[in-house]
Amino acid sequence: MQTQTILISGCSRGIGLALTKHLISKGHTIVATCRDPQGATELKAVADSCKTNSTQDGSKGRVIVYPLDVGSSESIAAARASMERDGIDTIDCLICNAGVTVHGDPPQTCDRAAMLHVFDVNVCGVLDCIQTFTPLLRRSSRRLVVVISSRAGSLSMHRRGSITSYRCSKAAANMLVKNFALEESKNDTDGITFISVHPGTADTEMGRAGGAPLEPLLPVDESAAGIAKIVEEAGREDNGRFLQWDGQELTY
Ligand SMILES: NC(=O)c1ccc[n+]([C@@H]2O[C@H](COP(=O)([O-])OP(=O)(O)OC[C@H]3O[C@@H](n4cnc5c(N)ncnc54)[C@H](OP(=O)(O)O)[C@@H]3O)[C@@H](O)[C@H]2O)c1
Repeated sequence: MQTQTILISGCSRGIGLALTKHLISKGHTIVATCRDPQGATELKAVADSCKTNSTQDGSKGRVIVYPLDVGSSESIAAARASMERDGIDTIDCLICNAGVTVHGDPPQTCDRAAMLHVFDVNVCGVLDCIQTFTPLLRRSSRRLVVVISSRAGSLSMHRRGSITSYRCSKAAANMLVKNFALEESKNDTDGITFISVHPGTADTEMGRAGGAPLEPLLPVDESAAGIAKIVEEAGREDNGRFLQWDGQELTY
């Protein structure tokens, strides 16, 4: 398959970092973004080793790191401006991965300010990234947006209470995907494909902090490999779908 240019938010650790590593191993160019590139030591090491490898092995992908805080419109716009200054005016895929949660958080005590923060990052951050990077996506023939949502945001598959702010935010992120997908389905010429993906209950800081999981934690590399396969294989017919990391269909 042709290599792609893929922008990912939240690459400092967890699923974003694992996805970056997996996708560069397949030859893709990753625009890896995070809030604090200087502090993201593991991502920095990946970027450095990529530079060395690419001189020895032409088949390896590239990683270019930019600061991007999805909680700030200025930061998102600045990332786009820096990319364009560096000659990156086209992206094939945008992966909205950055996310936060509030642990515990039963509905009876769910805090208004905390919920607003979770919505700012998990919903408004996704919306802002999509809007800001749409012109770069339109220049690609691929035009794919993958939102790393969660099964916790599914109304039809809801099994237990808690993590109230998080569940509400992921349900809203799913609605964003559906809304964009419906609008873009009217566009026969340069429509963008939108997919919502549940990465599994993965072994990351967020996954580990979630209390007793209903199933064993999924190794983060396995989650990333599954998401990468979806990213590489998704087509126009997948617009508006809600999938989990292994490609299984979920219901909203
Ligand atoms: N792990 C799971 O079991 C699980 C299950 C379902 C869905 N998810 C979703 O998967 C995605 C990744 O989660 P994860 O498990 O990898 O969690 P994680 O290990 O806690 O990593 C979260 C990432 O998001 C970044 N982030 C947080 N706020 C940000 C902001 N304002 N701007 C930019 N980046 C920000 C963090 O960066 P910093 O280092 O700067 O904080 C970090 O890179 C999230 O959307 C999450 O909701 C995870």
